[in-house]
Amino acid sequence: MQSTPVKRPGMIVHEQEPYNAEPPRAALAEHVITPVETFYGRNHGTIPRLDATSWRLRIDGLVEQPVELSLDELQTRFAHHEVTATLQCAGNRRAGLMAYRDIPGQHPWGAGATSTAVWRGVRLADVLTAAGLAPGATDIAFEAPDIAPEAEPTQAYGGSIPTIKATAPEVLLAWEMNGEPLSTAHGAPVRVVVPGFIGARSVKWVERITAQDRPSQNFFQQGAYRLLPADTDTERIQAGDGVALGPVALNSEILTPDDGEHLAAGPVVVTGYAFAGDDREVVRVDVTADGGATWVQADLEAQPSPWSWRFWHTSLHVPAGPVQITARAWDSTAAVQPEHPATVWNPKGYINNSWPTVTVTVVADNDLRDAESPEGS
Ligand code: MTE
Repeated sequence: MQSTPVKRPGMIVHEQEPYNAEPPRAALAEHVITPVETFYGRNHGTIPRLDATSWRLRIDGLVEQPVELSLDELQTRFAHHEVTATLQCAGNRRAGLMAYRDIPGQHPWGAGATSTAVWRGVRLADVLTAAGLAPGATDIAFEAPDIAPEAEPTQAYGGSIPTIKATAPEVLLAWEMNGEPLSTAHGAPVRVVVPGFIGARSVKWVERITAQDRPSQNFFQQGAYRLLPADTDTERIQAGDGVALGPVALNSEILTPDDGEHLAAGPVVVTGYAFAGDDREVVRVDVTADGGATWVQADLEAQPSPWSWRFWHTSLHVPAGPVQITARAWDSTAAVQPEHPATVWNPKGYINNSWPTVTVTVVADNDLRDAESPEGS
């Protein structure tokens, strides 16, 4: 049965069915823990409504003892854990790549295909231990029941992560998001949460977990969410081409002011997020309003957890007229974001982590009133 997500008004809806939507920048900037109604939604098929009482999770493959768990068994047999983690879709900020060179057939996600929540559930590691991982289990694959028409051939959604990540303490089988039962749209009754990896690996509505000696053969592991060279002949892509995406690349965005905004003269407060995937940390964010001639170091706000994004803010003096504001983040390995979308452009439009920019116009107060009410009313 189809289920429509409950979201705040003003979401940027890229597709109604399957539901794909992101919050506008200003909405994302309101809370470092994103309210569920603001959290982006990314779906490859119709959202399934599963019955929590008949739902079962099967753990099989290279295990000593296949296990089948009801929701009640999952919740009573294993210790509960909470992790605050940012999910970031590999397609986040694709619009910036498309502005450089078009990417037909893909959603033009802006700054908001990423959000942060407090997830509660059990460690995947504990469940795998109960089944007894056999030697040679290099990858842990997930299967869900939602059918993705775009997959070739059409199939249910799935994917995998390396066992070394699957057995790390931050990876959860979660039934709670921000203190509320997980909603249908975000994967109820149980979803995988893989902090630090692209959102695609956090499989919703998970029903089967298989330990195996190779990555998942699912379309979303072998055909999509792979990084292909810019000159790939897209008519001839084969399963397994390119590189499967896992840990999230260092990225950042400007959330306020919005692109195209008219601002009063005076200091301009600039805010945004920065996120370094897996076990890396954001250590610095620089902001420029003069094309990089001078950079101001932004103030980094407290990071809710090692697995979450970091909000930042600063205040800039900018001259009157149109001004481009640009940011760049650095992580704990001294990596910095690449400057231009051309550097990272790829045929499916993943991982645009080039420097974010917004163009604003700074005007005198009178001119601002005119700009806000062009009819003079
Ligand atoms: N899980 C299933 N079963 N089906 C999906 O389409 N989309 C994935 C992932 N898990 C998906 C899925 C992708 S691409 C992302 S970015 C995240 O879920 C989005 O999670 P959200 O919709 O809760 O924000």
